[in-house]
Amino acid sequence: MIRHLAIALLAVATLARCSPAESRTATATPPATASTATGPVRPDPARGEALFRQFVPEARYACVTCHLPNSTQALLGPGLLGVGDGVSPCDPQQDLEDYLQQSILEPDACLTLGFSARLMPAVYAEVYSEQDVDDLVAWMLTLRQRNEAGQ
Ligand code: HEC
Repeated sequence: MIRHLAIALLAVATLARCSPAESRTATATPPATASTATGPVRPDPARGEALFRQFVPEARYACVTCHLPNSTQALLGPGLLGVGDGVSPCDPQQDLEDYLQQSILEPDACLTLGFSARLMPAVYAEVYSEQDVDDLVAWMLTLRQRNEAGQ
């Protein structure tokens, strides 16, 4: 029992190796502009990237701990380079923005080929505002293979 706990803690420690940098980013994440009075604010990909790198206590990880944004190589989750050129593996007709949004809010609704359910935390619907999700999606849409050089 204790040994299992130790192994689990070690795994978490290994996965969390980038967290000091992430928490620094966290403090710097700009607050979303209040949007109630004027309707939705335009999605901000730069803010989305900051959120992607930010440690989320409810999820116990930052997105970037599981996903490389600049590679197709998998960590715990698929590498996201090229996700902005992609299609839903469940419904190629689905709008890409909808699919990316769904991937955050309902991670098990459509699994990426080759990955198991219940690995990606299903907490983001409670943690993130609509603006947060829009910003994350806007940023992921910029992750295209064509822009690979240096990004
Ligand atoms: C603990 C690891 C983990 C964390 C944290 C995590 N994910 Fe995932 N993610 C996965 C796994 C595993 C999959 C593949 C299985 C699935 O579809 O749920 C996945 C799938 C995805 C996909 C679908 C990719 C594709 O090519 O179809 C997107 C998009 C995504 N995650 C974005 C995010 C974002 C944005 C965050 C942070 C808000 C995040 N993930 C946090 C593990 C994680």
